[in-house]
Amino acid sequence: MALDEKTLDALLAENRTFPPPADLAASANARDPELYARAAADPEGFWAAHAAELDWFRPWDTVFQWAPPFAQWFVGGKLNASYNCIDRHLRTWRRNKAALIWEGEPGDHRVLTYQDLHREVCRFAHALRRLGVKKGDRVTLYMPMIPELAIAMLACARLGAAHSVVFGGFSVEALRDRILDAESHVVVTADGGYRRGGIVPLKRNVDEALKECPQVKSVVVVRRVGHESLDVMVDGRDHWWEELVHEAPLTFEPEPMDSEDLLFILYTSGTTGKPKGIVHTTGGYLTGTYTTTKYIFDLKEDDVFWCTADIGWITGHSYVVYGPLANGATVVMYEGAPDFPARDRFWEIIEKYRVTIFYTAPTAIRTFMRWGTEWPAKRDLSSLRLLGTVGEPINPEAWMWYYHFIGKERCPIMDTWWQTETGAIMITPLPGLVTTKPGSATIPFPGIEADVVDNDGNPVPPGKGGYLVIKRPWPSMLRNIYGDPERFKAQYWSRFPGVYFTGDGARRDEDGYFWVLGRIDDVIKVSGHRIGTMEVESALVDHPLVAEAAVIGRHHEIKGQAITAFVTLKEGAQRSEILAQQLRDHVAAKIGPIAKPDDIIFTAELPKTRSGKIMRRLLRDIAESRQLGDTSTLADASVIESLKKVYSTEEEAG
Ligand code: PRX
Repeated sequence: MALDEKTLDALLAENRTFPPPADLAASANARDPELYARAAADPEGFWAAHAAELDWFRPWDTVFQWAPPFAQWFVGGKLNASYNCIDRHLRTWRRNKAALIWEGEPGDHRVLTYQDLHREVCRFAHALRRLGVKKGDRVTLYMPMIPELAIAMLACARLGAAHSVVFGGFSVEALRDRILDAESHVVVTADGGYRRGGIVPLKRNVDEALKECPQVKSVVVVRRVGHESLDVMVDGRDHWWEELVHEAPLTFEPEPMDSEDLLFILYTSGTTGKPKGIVHTTGGYLTGTYTTTKYIFDLKEDDVFWCTADIGWITGHSYVVYGPLANGATVVMYEGAPDFPARDRFWEIIEKYRVTIFYTAPTAIRTFMRWGTEWPAKRDLSSLRLLGTVGEPINPEAWMWYYHFIGKERCPIMDTWWQTETGAIMITPLPGLVTTKPGSATIPFPGIEADVVDNDGNPVPPGKGGYLVIKRPWPSMLRNIYGDPERFKAQYWSRFPGVYFTGDGARRDEDGYFWVLGRIDDVIKVSGHRIGTMEVESALVDHPLVAEAAVIGRHHEIKGQAITAFVTLKEGAQRSEILAQQLRDHVAAKIGPIAKPDDIIFTAELPKTRSGKIMRRLLRDIAESRQLGDTSTLADASVIESLKKVYSTEEEAG
């Protein structure tokens, strides 16, 4: 678990409360306090009423069918996600409304109205079709944060293909594995993307990855950077985006999709070394993201909504693309980093576009805190009316800083708990209805039934820690792990039969508020990014000099958690700082820079049980300088003493 007992107790002693601002409460999209009770009494009716706010080509026959653990929502209904995010807005004045306001890292920008978005999506859908993409195919997108990424997603949805977006920070190997697992024949990328003034050579990575993906027949390349050195195109396989869409017709009939047809796959880390392809389908996912965006962010016609997440993660899928566009909102999209060219980049963007709703991660907030209040103070943030956070627990200090220095004590903060698997936000305040407490994601969204249970699945009393579970299926829940239904069942549905197991620990307080404590499995959150310790371990043992590795997440002031790797070397290999650096680079090459261990601790042995299992719990205790837990099952007690010594010397040295 990410936090220790002392921190937990301090958290639960947090007693500041912030009721909804009166003006917001009076006009909020969700302002009827009965909403919760009504949804609890009839969750299916609640979801069906919101699904009905989408446009369906054919109404559903049955709201919900449950053959545990396989759920179906809006069975028999037909719709298209791209139609719902675009076409339905063209019937009104919204056709000339800004859909995407895009800011590039070097300061270039583009605005696409809903009409523009329609045209670009249709043209790219034609391009994909020309390349042979059909309904049911999977297209891999490995792109920077540019409008073409959203366009490509919606074009896939329009013709009925599923997209699999791979975060642009992932390595060649990670990309290769995801292309192979999804069995994509087409990859869409860009020559490069900008990051802190440098260029990420995305197309070059694709070329490398494709050496081992013979099934890929076509690559589409957006010219983003325009450097000659990046213009290496493979004849017959590679196509420039602009040339493909140049003569394409301006309209493209959206494919009527079954509610349960695949909308996308998104890979995320789990407890094994192999990332899992989380499967989301059309009707339920769109209903979940549409409804949560409308109520939690209280979207109004003239709002400017900015979610800073990269589209390579679920937050970007749900709250940069599908949720806000299904609501006909104006979305800001930014390509680069928060500190380039200067540390007020985010505040500059808010000032420039008069952003009204801002959604970011606790790790970003803690970084801003460290940079100092002078950066936001330089900019006019008076347009803001609502703030959100996501991705990891937010500490009350960061919450209060956000509240004072960004929201100027006017803006309620939505601390939203959810996961790649849940598709949409699950535990969160509603801005007009729920009193917030710094550090708590508060209560489940209407229609969601969450609980904290003990080992046997029984609810625990207030104040007690336990496992966070979801007791009833919801529309935007994952339907499967791509190609691996057994893992799907084992991972989520077997710990407590028929109940969804989140992998998180939590407590509830006397008011029933949820305090999510972090992962209790072998998944860690580093700067909000989800990384499997086993993935990092496999990357380390792949190095020729490494015999064994154990990876844990330790508490980190800014990043939430940092990666500590305990490594034993093969006979004859010499420990050195140079080797440690090589191992970090090796992990970056295998997974991506986000997975680079912060600390590499060389040790002669790892603490193991008599049956040979590595005792990660003890490693965590050592890394966080805690009193060691139970060591009685340890095969060789002296290992711990020598480890503690190595760790403290490394700490002093580092
Ligand atoms: O541990 C929880 C943490 O992020 C995990 C899900 O990660 P991912 O699938 O990458 O999705 C992140 C964005 C939705 C959860 O299991 N988490 C997410 N939001 C919160 C959180 N922990 C505490 N509070 C949150 N608001």
